[in-house]
Amino acid sequence: MPMTRRRLALGLSMRYLGYHAAGWRHPRANAAGTTSFAHYRTVAQEAEAAGFDLVFLADGMAVRARDEPEGALAQSSQIADFEPLTLLSALAAVTSRIGLVATASTTYNQPYSLARQYASLDLLSDGRAGWNVVTSWSDAEARNFGLEATPDYGARYRRAEEFVDVVTGLWDSWDEGALLHDKENARFLDAAKLHVLNHQGDEFRVRGPLSVPGSPQRRPVIVQAGASEAGMNLAARTADLVYTVPQSKDASIAFRKDLRERAASFGRDPDTIRVLPGIVPFTGATDQDARAGYDELNSLIPDELGRQYLYNQMGDLSGFPLDGPVPPPPAGAAVGSIAKNLYEMAQREGLTLRQMVHVAAAGYGARVIVGAGHSIAEEMLDWFHSDAADGFNICAPLLPVAISDFSRHIMPVLEKSDILTDRAIPALRARLGLPDIKSRYS
Ligand SMILES: Cc1cc2nc3c(=O)[nH]c(=O)nc-3n(C[C@H](O)[C@H](O)[C@H](O)COP(=O)(O)O)c2cc1C
Repeated sequence: MPMTRRRLALGLSMRYLGYHAAGWRHPRANAAGTTSFAHYRTVAQEAEAAGFDLVFLADGMAVRARDEPEGALAQSSQIADFEPLTLLSALAAVTSRIGLVATASTTYNQPYSLARQYASLDLLSDGRAGWNVVTSWSDAEARNFGLEATPDYGARYRRAEEFVDVVTGLWDSWDEGALLHDKENARFLDAAKLHVLNHQGDEFRVRGPLSVPGSPQRRPVIVQAGASEAGMNLAARTADLVYTVPQSKDASIAFRKDLRERAASFGRDPDTIRVLPGIVPFTGATDQDARAGYDELNSLIPDELGRQYLYNQMGDLSGFPLDGPVPPPPAGAAVGSIAKNLYEMAQREGLTLRQMVHVAAAGYGARVIVGAGHSIAEEMLDWFHSDAADGFNICAPLLPVAISDFSRHIMPVLEKSDILTDRAIPALRARLGLPDIKSRYS
């Protein structure tokens, strides 16, 4: 049985100026914000004040956008940003009680380096660090790391499984109380409380111990976002939070149930794994206000850029007319799970390719909801109470303005429901009601 009542977790996805492809052209946008510390400081501080549990930075280790169709690259703002761990380390100093979750790839990093970086972020932030584990999907990234193409699923996920085990092993290097700082007796540490991992695996050989001791959470929160068999198994075995982009409540219920069953089969209590669907809320005081905001942003999407979003999400559909039906995604779309979700939505809602372009460019694959604050909040509560979600990753269309929209129109309804987390708790794992995970040496 969980020790505490289930709470609705709220993340804010804060990459770039938000999710909308044309956000940078909006009159209220700071087009230079994607590489401005002041922009992200405002976003993180406003998110903290609004009551979000965490900010989340997605990432890719390349300029992934291609110039397809020609001209699209020059229209995109979602290609220029900071390295996430560096940015979140700076944000740790100007916030005090919001979780800081950075994405990092298991395909193009080494476990010792990442274990160290996240333990450092956890120390710098007094226990607010989280790691979104991804395996990376683009050839653009492969080409920055000595490869021609992305390694196949099997290879990526085999490496990811072992990678996470090495990282969590390294995080266990120091028992509590290992550091003595005893000047009198010349004992800086109790060496018996320092553990050498000695990992010898197929992918990695890592001796340890980690050189960063005493991180407050010891195990930063682990987030995962893969939705394939292999991705779900990795999440079920290792993740605390799972970020998904289901396009319907039923799909989310089925995903969550499947994930919980997998977690149980790995010997875990399913209540210790939380599913956070991404949603892109366009909101206002009324449905009409919300719709006006959505239409305004969509009217700013240049054609080439809109087409490019379909390339990214669903593969090359350039041969198909924009006012015709949405064809099935070609085999080998990069993020297969997102392409499948979008295609199913198009079929369910009878969308044309042009309408699909708007959805893809407005939400980058996450579910777009346009409506008055109370109706979006009620839908979120319904998902929570129907076991479709344990919280949400809010993919704001345009930052920072979407935070004030959310806190004015949606948050008051959520607050009244009395199922949000305790904002007085700063450490992320504790705030989310996640259990402490015992050290393997205890
Ligand atoms: C909701 C969601 C968010 C993701 N975010 C990232 C990201 O920020 N960076 C990244 O490299 N990959 C990201 N991915 C890609 C996954 O890590 C994975 O490589 C990809 O989804 C293919 O695996 P899958 O079929 O198991 O989903 C994301 C995937 C999903 C579904």
